[in-house]
Amino acid sequence: MLAQQLFDLTGEVALVTGASSGLGARFARVLAANGAKVVLAARRLDRLESLKHEIGANAHAVAFDAADRSSFTKAFDAAERVFGRVTLLVNNAGIATGSFFVDTSPEEWDRIQAVNVDAVWLMAQEAARRWITAKEPGAIINIASVLSYRVSLANSAYAVSKAAVAQMTQAMALELARHDIRVNAIAPGYIVTEMTDNFLKSPAGQKRIQAIPQRRAGAPSDLDGALLLLASRHASRFMTGSVVVVDGGHLTSFT
Ligand SMILES: NC(=O)c1ccc[n+]([C@@H]2O[C@H](COP(=O)([O-])OP(=O)(O)OC[C@H]3O[C@@H](n4cnc5c(N)ncnc54)[C@H](OP(=O)(O)O)[C@@H]3O)[C@@H](O)[C@H]2O)c1
Repeated sequence: MLAQQLFDLTGEVALVTGASSGLGARFARVLAANGAKVVLAARRLDRLESLKHEIGANAHAVAFDAADRSSFTKAFDAAERVFGRVTLLVNNAGIATGSFFVDTSPEEWDRIQAVNVDAVWLMAQEAARRWITAKEPGAIINIASVLSYRVSLANSAYAVSKAAVAQMTQAMALELARHDIRVNAIAPGYIVTEMTDNFLKSPAGQKRIQAIPQRRAGAPSDLDGALLLLASRHASRFMTGSVVVVDGGHLTSFT
């Protein structure tokens, strides 16, 4: 099969959470550029509207708050009213913490787990239930992290949440394969976005970059290949439960 056909997403309807900035905005642009209709979901609707304007008729913005469960079904319903059945869920919305373990308040722990774990789990459940009821296939891409596998200082709640994302990807894949639903994840290393920009510019961040074998932080576009691979029902039809690491080699040398 030619590469263009292998990664052609025509007919797909992708719901991308956290599409208002960083990786999510990039994912939405790339999916749309390869033929998918994209539903942009986040809290900052002004940003979603400007991305929608940039992408054009194949994009639609919906309000979504990962900390507010009542917005989950509403996001799917709103997406379906405009583009029909969602066929691909990109569970990307996430937040990071900057606290040491002993200083992490119960509220901070709850906030991180609600957005990074509970919302990922519940959005995947919502998607899977709709696909199973409709007897239609579907795909889920969860956004994990190199911190799914390693830990670093002042990131404990985040690292625990991302470990859960990697583990739930495999658990969901196991149970959903019989319904023709693929569940995979991308585990990015350090990528320059609003989440990491300040840290990566700091002396500690510069030192961290020196521990990456490729000696640089990634750009959101460095995830394009992994995204298209996992999004395409042709390219990754025999892949489920995989966590694709994209980190410039960081996991080989983690500090
Ligand atoms: N950048 C990296 O180096 C890196 C590495 C590994 C993994 N990741 C993961 O990649 C994902 C995207 O991060 P990023 O780097 O692109 O960061 P970012 O630029 O800060 O984007 C985070 C996105 O998540 C959304 N979000 C946060 N809280 C939300 C909530 N309560 N409800 C709905 N949306 C919410 C934000 O949208 P609103 O604020 O508009 O709601 C925003 O669109 C995250 O899961 C992150 O953990 C990033």
